[in-house]
Amino acid sequence: MENFKIDNPTIVHFGKGVVGDLGNVVSAYGKKVFLVYGKGSVKKNGIYDAVMQSLKEAGGEVSEFSGIRPNPVIGDVDAAAAAGREFRPDIILAVGGGSVLDSAKIISVTIPVDHSGWLFMKNKAKPASAIPVVAVLTLAATGSEMNPFAVIQNHETKEKLGWGNRLCYPAHSFLDPSYTFSVPKDYTAYGITDLMAHALENFFGEGEASLSDRFVFSVMKEAIEYGPLLLNDLYSYRLREKIMYAATMALNGLTLYGRKYGDWGVHSIGHVISLLFDTAHGATLSMAYPAWLKLHQERIPGRIGELGRAVFDTGDPGETISNLEDFFKSIGSPVRLDEAGISDKDKEALLPVMIRNQVGGNHHKLSDRDREKILEYMAGR
Ligand code: NZQ
Ligand code: ZN
Repeated sequence: MENFKIDNPTIVHFGKGVVGDLGNVVSAYGKKVFLVYGKGSVKKNGIYDAVMQSLKEAGGEVSEFSGIRPNPVIGDVDAAAAAGREFRPDIILAVGGGSVLDSAKIISVTIPVDHSGWLFMKNKAKPASAIPVVAVLTLAATGSEMNPFAVIQNHETKEKLGWGNRLCYPAHSFLDPSYTFSVPKDYTAYGITDLMAHALENFFGEGEASLSDRFVFSVMKEAIEYGPLLLNDLYSYRLREKIMYAATMALNGLTLYGRKYGDWGVHSIGHVISLLFDTAHGATLSMAYPAWLKLHQERIPGRIGELGRAVFDTGDPGETISNLEDFFKSIGSPVRLDEAGISDKDKEALLPVMIRNQVGGNHHKLSDRDREKILEYMAGR
């Protein structure tokens, strides 16, 4: 194994009704709360009211920034940071899915400075301080609730980048599985795909860490066993809690410790698809993972077979890949570009951006011919 440090400062409050304690937790940081949320789901499902009630009881003074979109963009983050700079909050409260949480993290480091948050994303500036972020998670998928990462798009530079800094761990995250009841079936499926992809990115990273492998397998088995049941029973608390817990554990360090790093090549392919076609993040991964594995089938057959033996009851790499693809298909997450509404013609735009952004993994590098082949697999050829 590689040497490693376990250092995850996020306090997670998990379970039914935990948001009742939100006001008390937030007021420990001060009275001024900068509330960030998305395009309105929290108003329809009552989460906004529950959050406001708890803040009101604790005497919070709230200023709001709403409208963060899925696949969040730097323009919104900078606009929110400007509003936050005026308000001078003690705390940022992010209520939503990964897009809202990721935006809040970059807002938190951009409020104290006088430049765009994009300079952080590009590693052209390093944050020295951050406004603490508290999260109320409403969608199980990204693991953003217990990690320091944020993924933001810039349409001007045609980039969707991931970035992380220790300052960006949420101070507290509130995870009430019943807050995910209203997530529609398609986004529930994309969340299941995403959490599995996080476990896989770490599994295919560099370094040998058998216990972390077993955490990967456990996360995947939870998703494979309970994901399909959840899609037939969206209001099951028991199933929502299993998927929410699995999503958090998939990308909080647990599946990585002892390795040098995760691969993340599939995510970088997915980010280009989202950037160009605004495809939901998880939907890009159910197309890209089987394609990436097909490319690597003869390069790393042993590793793919190990995954198959532990998760799909087969040591055959080809069967492992088909089983994973069939699983994604069975939950309604697309496995071909046309299933996500991306035509053969549209597809032509992908390769140049993949090449320009040098998409590929930390461990398994990709050549231009590899990128082309992955696109062919995603197109079903
Ligand atoms: O905007 P609102 O109205 O809130 O609607 C959202 C959005 O339309 C809706 N939604 C969220 N909670 C809901 C709900 N609808 C009904 N009921 C609820 N309880 O769902 C839609 C998608 O939300 P979004 O936040 O975009 O989804 P997700 O959590 O999958 O986040 C995706 C983003 O996270 C990034 C992705 O690249 C993408 O930009 N990622 C972040 C990571 C991280 N920070 O570690 C890692 C991931 O690999 C990923 O890249
Ligand atoms: Zn992801």
